[in-house]
Amino acid sequence: MKPFLFFSIFSLLFLTFLIASQSVTAQNSIYQTCKTFAQNDPNVNYNFCTTSLQAYPASQNATLQELGMISIRLIRYNITDTRFYIKNLIKNKKWDSYTQQSLSDCFELFSDAIPSVKKAMKYYNKKLYGDADVQLSAVMDDATTCEDGFNEGGVVSPLTKRTGDAFQLSAIALSAVRMLQTGSN
Ligand SMILES: *[C@@H]1O[C@H](CO)[C@@H](O)[C@H](O)[C@H]1NC(C)=O
Ligand SMILES: *[C@@H]1O[C@H](CO)[C@@H](O)[C@H](O)[C@H]1NC(C)=O
Repeated sequence: MKPFLFFSIFSLLFLTFLIASQSVTAQNSIYQTCKTFAQNDPNVNYNFCTTSLQAYPASQNATLQELGMISIRLIRYNITDTRFYIKNLIKNKKWDSYTQQSLSDCFELFSDAIPSVKKAMKYYNKKLYGDADVQLSAVMDDATTCEDGFNEGGVVSPLTKRTGDAFQLSAIALSAVRMLQTGSN
């Protein structure tokens, strides 16, 4: 084989590889990002991460910055809905007094979490990642404290799925924030 021909074929292959890998990266940005998040943080579940972000159409070609914003929006919708859900549980059902008390604690916690996520959004948009981190961590703590309340009293939590969602979504947003923070320093 002539060196020139060899070089041409090699270049062509290399170019094809480059183009292919770039389009794969664009399409799989969610998979790549969730994989990195899950590797760096045991709180992030890979399947939960990809499923949650995929539900958002604009996430397809999103950058890390955009995926972070999307995850903070998802938290906001999620916990706002959960707050109403708790309110209705308290209103519409007869609970034992311990569960009743835990539900009202959770209502307070989720009510506090909403302004926290709004602040996180504001800080995030200003690239104040350290401040966004504090607010998102508060949301995560609220979800954990709510769930722990039921567990400590030995009663079944009617909110496990929802506190888990709030926890997981916060872990995803925190991963994005922490990656952006290290990248920007
Ligand atoms: C909260 O987020 C999770 C994960 O994306 C989703 O499965 C769930 O449906 C959401 N819940 C609400 C009430 O939006
Ligand atoms: C993502 O990028 C591809 C290729 O550039 C484009 O065809 C597609 O419409 C984009 N998808 C979204 C949701 O923007």
